[in-house]
Amino acid sequence: MPTLKMIVNNEPITLEVDALRPLVDVLREDLGLLGTKVGCREGECGACTILLDGKAVNSCLIPAMRAHGCSIVTIEGVGDVDNPHPVQVSITEEGGVQCGYCTPGFVMSAVGLLNKSPNPTEAEVREAISGNLCRCTGYNRIVKGILKSVEK
Ligand code: FES
Ligand code: FES
Repeated sequence: MPTLKMIVNNEPITLEVDALRPLVDVLREDLGLLGTKVGCREGECGACTILLDGKAVNSCLIPAMRAHGCSIVTIEGVGDVDNPHPVQVSITEEGGVQCGYCTPGFVMSAVGLLNKSPNPTEAEVREAISGNLCRCTGYNRIVKGILKSVEK
């Protein structure tokens, strides 16, 4: 099996992997990073969103070796209960988290947007999260939360 070298949440990682295994499975099963969720495995729900070299992507669609030499950020690298990212704080404050299954994916899409556009319009926020599905909140609270995080 080929050797995959990548940086995950600022840590260098070396693994032997099946080249075509979905990156989300490597992150969750081999590295124990369970914050990245799996929904559809077809690029439709956005639950598995991570940053690959700063860009939000669906990790269920990325073959493991595509990450070779890349820098990955998962939700664990963004924030946690003790040290949440402003997007996590604001989405929660605005009631944009209900069951929470979709939340890591939305946060990663938002962080990917803020990396390239630190002061986005509402339209840019809606576009950035257009690949993320939420069955609980109706989206508006999530959008409001992301926009509020920019004001902080
Ligand atoms: S699990 Fe990857 S987009 Fe749904
Ligand atoms: S909060 Fe339940 S799917 Fe989004």
